[in-house]
Amino acid sequence: MAWKNDGMSNATATANGTKNATFTRMDQSTAEEWAEIGRQNFANQPRVAETILSMLRSLADITDGFATDQLTHCLQTATYAEKAGADDEVIVASLCHDIGKAISVSNHGPIAAEILRPYVRPDVTWMINVHQDFQGKHYYAHFGADPNKRDEYVGHPAFDMTAQFADEWDQIAFDPDGETYPLEHFEPLVREIFGRVKY
Ligand SMILES: [Fe+2]
Repeated sequence: MAWKNDGMSNATATANGTKNATFTRMDQSTAEEWAEIGRQNFANQPRVAETILSMLRSLADITDGFATDQLTHCLQTATYAEKAGADDEVIVASLCHDIGKAISVSNHGPIAAEILRPYVRPDVTWMINVHQDFQGKHYYAHFGADPNKRDEYVGHPAFDMTAQFADEWDQIAFDPDGETYPLEHFEPLVREIFGRVKY
């Protein structure tokens, strides 16, 4: 049934009371339809956090030879960050720092950084983007790569924070017996941070 068939709008009412547009080309859309799309988009913002939580849960299926699965590793990293007194954005970034592995292990740092970028301050995004090179201090030598690759970033305002993240939280968080808060512990913070429309 037409929601408002006055020639100005193509929107139709749906069973749940929303008024979806019917345009099939954007050049035939109306301002009224876009107002409704914007309203629904804003109302559905909580979907972002639920998607993040779903991606995190999927990391439980990725072990790839480590002593812990990747969800445990992420939870343990965030646990160490929280116990060290990190702020909320750093805790959530620690929780999500390897979320990119749900898509591509090889490119996981930049993927995670782009997921976080709209929701956290720039230095936190930077930390996640380069975290693998800082982590490399502890294992790059096994591949013949430069364990001091992080030195390229000396002088960056987030250098010390990223070094702490890598050395004190991330690289030690592969312990099946290590303290690990459950995902439920972090869920309210995930919903708060990813509930932001934009940082
Ligand atoms: Fe990690």
